[in-house]
This record gives sequence, structure tokens and C-alpha cells, in this order.
Amino acid sequence: MSTPLLDVQSFSVAFHTEDAPVSAVSDVTLSVGEGEIFGLVGESGCGKTTLSLAIMGLLPPTARTSGVVTFTGRDLATLDDEETRQLRGDRISMILQDPMTSLDPTFSIGSQVSEVITSHRDVSAKAARSRAVDLLREVGIPDAAARYDDPPHRFSGGMRQRVVIAAALANEPALLLADEPTTALDVTIQAQILTLLRDLREGHGTAIVLVTHDLGVVAQICDRVGVMYAGQLVETASVRELFTAPRHPYTRALLAALPASGQLPGSLRVIEGRVPDLSDPPPGCRFAPRCPHRMPECESVPPLASYPSGHQIACWLDPMTRAAVGDATASDATASDATASGPGRHVVPDGRS
Ligand SMILES: Nc1ncnc2c1ncn2[C@@H]1O[C@H](COP(=O)(O)OP(=O)(O)O)[C@@H](O)[C@H]1O
Ligand code: SF4
Ligand SMILES: [Mg+2]
Repeated sequence: MSTPLLDVQSFSVAFHTEDAPVSAVSDVTLSVGEGEIFGLVGESGCGKTTLSLAIMGLLPPTARTSGVVTFTGRDLATLDDEETRQLRGDRISMILQDPMTSLDPTFSIGSQVSEVITSHRDVSAKAARSRAVDLLREVGIPDAAARYDDPPHRFSGGMRQRVVIAAALANEPALLLADEPTTALDVTIQAQILTLLRDLREGHGTAIVLVTHDLGVVAQICDRVGVMYAGQLVETASVRELFTAPRHPYTRALLAALPASGQLPGSLRVIEGRVPDLSDPPPGCRFAPRCPHRMPECESVPPLASYPSGHQIACWLDPMTRAAVGDATASDATASDATASGPGRHVVPDGRS
């Protein structure tokens, strides 16, 4: 198998605060291929931003990590400062969750795009300006050359987000981490930005990790999706499989909470209960307190098991998860088909591992 563009293996992040450590990302294993749009979905507080910031090397000093993240086969933890600087913002770039604070209000939009270019490329100011204008035009800023010197406050939220995307794409990254890039925008603008991201993938082959709490967004542009709950990856599948044959109770609950078309916002169904406090998460399956199917074995962490199709699932209800730990009662999956990821998650009630 060819090396994935991004490979995350058994990766965890804990924030060490004055109180108990916050286990924000727990034993996550996933990979993203070249040119793929991978959705990372889950409610607020499930660790999506923390995982993205970790890949980008932007975690605060209070964060402790374990596991391995490789990009084109290189372990990101082994890079020196200069290599990290070269890689991040150049080969990998990120659209931060809060688009309104991503642009400096005191500089023109054009100069902020040019700055990204000159900090990674040995080009003249004139060439950087010309490239920035092209980028602004490409992301749909009308009159890009004339508006280059305008400050951010002269633009609408949707237009500012386009500028942020132009800056993130300035050096043609192979991987774009887009953290809730459309959440603050109204539905029409949201659709335009998603179309823009898809066009960028088509035109430049940019792989995108699209972080969102909204499965509706995932359905619009992603190829594959990973579902995170309380810091753990609980299901990964192609978008088609996830929508037609979801396996994890949390994924099913997220799908059931999607508004039907024409439904009024006030009639949205929400999932009962809330994401646990990650300074004191439930010991086994973290979804157990909200899960209608919980059973005694859910007090142990289910491993993430893979179907031959690539569909991955971590739930004791699922035959593949059971097969992954050699459960003979697993009916429609065999132990030989099953592979489980994440060494820390091979824990079952009777102590097998
Ligand atoms: N710098 C930090 N210090 C302590 N806890 C944090 C920090 N950043 C995030 N967290 C906690 O980590 C968990 C995951 O947060 P986050 O990654 O922002 O989730 P999401 O992006 O899915 O909403 C939450 O419990 C959040 O409170
Ligand atoms: S492992 Fe148990 S508690 Fe967790 S989602 Fe599956 S059935 Fe529910
Ligand atoms: Mg977030």
C-alpha cells in the first residue's frame, strides 16, 4: 500500500491544567490520502480542534502528546524547528476555527496573503503581490487587484473567510486543515465556501481535513469521514457508507439529529445528555452514559476494528469489534477479517488484550 499523505497512529493529547489533566484526544488512529477530503465530525468538545492543532504543531505548552503523526512518511515529532517551520504553513496549512480573528484588522487583506508567500518563498514583494491578487481572484474576491489594500473590516464574513482560505492556500499546501470553516456563515455562503474548497481539491489536488460538528456539511463535500466522540475515534467510513449503513450508536444519533429538509430550526432533534468532562471521562466506552444499548462490557474501551471495506467501528455491539478481540459469538464477522487499531484500546472485560 502506498504511504498515506497523513498518518496518525495511536495519538493522544492531554492538557495538564492546575486541576486534573484533560484527556482531549485519546488513542486516535486515522489516515488521509493525497487529494482526499476527510471529514472529522463530532459535537463540540470531542477533540477535533485539538487533533488539528496537534497536526499543525500549534498545541499550547500545557499539552502532552503520545503516539505518532507522519506526513508523507516523515514523523513530525522528529523535525527540527526550521523543518517544522518549512513544513507547516507551506506543505500543511490550517484555517483556524474562528475566522473573524484569523485576519489582523490593522493590515490590508492583500498584504496578509502576500506575507504568507514571502515567509516561505524567496520572491520579490512585487511577485508576491501579483500571486496574492491571483489567489484572491481565485477564491472569488471581486475586483481583487483594487481591493488588495482594503482592511478586513471592509469585507463581509463570507468574503473574509475567502481571504483566510486564499492565505491558507498561498503556497499550494498538500494538506489543508479546515476547522469549522463555514460554521459562522449563513447557509448560502456556507455552500459557496464548500464549493470553493471542492474546486480547490479538483484544481490543485489539495487534501483537506474538514472539521465540523455538522454531518450535513460532510455530506456535501467529503469522501470519507471519521466520527469523534469525547476524544476517541468511534467510526470511520466512506461518506456513502456512513450515511447508508452507520454502525456506531453515536453516529446514528448524529444522523437522527440532522434536520429533515424543510424542518424549522426550533424542531431540531438533539442527542440527549452531553459530552463528558474530559478531565474525568467514563472509564470504558465514553459514549456509554448516553447510549441506549449500553451493557456491562461497555465499561471497557472497545477497540477500533476494520471491515475489509475500510469501514472502522469501535462498539461492543458490533460483530467486527467483538471479532477483533476474538469473541466467538460475533456472528457476521470473522476474527480473520478483523483488524484492530490502537494498542491502548485492546482492552476487554476479562483482561484479554
Ligand atoms: N488549552 C486547553 N486546555 C485545557 N483543556 C482544553 C484546551 N483546549 C481544549 N481543551 C479541552 O479539550 C476538549 C476538546 O476540545 P476541542 O479540541 O476544542 O474540541 P472540539 O474542537 O471537538 O469542539 C474539551 O474538553 C476542551 O475543553
Ligand atoms: S460500546 Fe456499548 S456504550 Fe459504547 S456505543 Fe457501543 S453499545 Fe453503546
Ligand atoms: Mg473545535
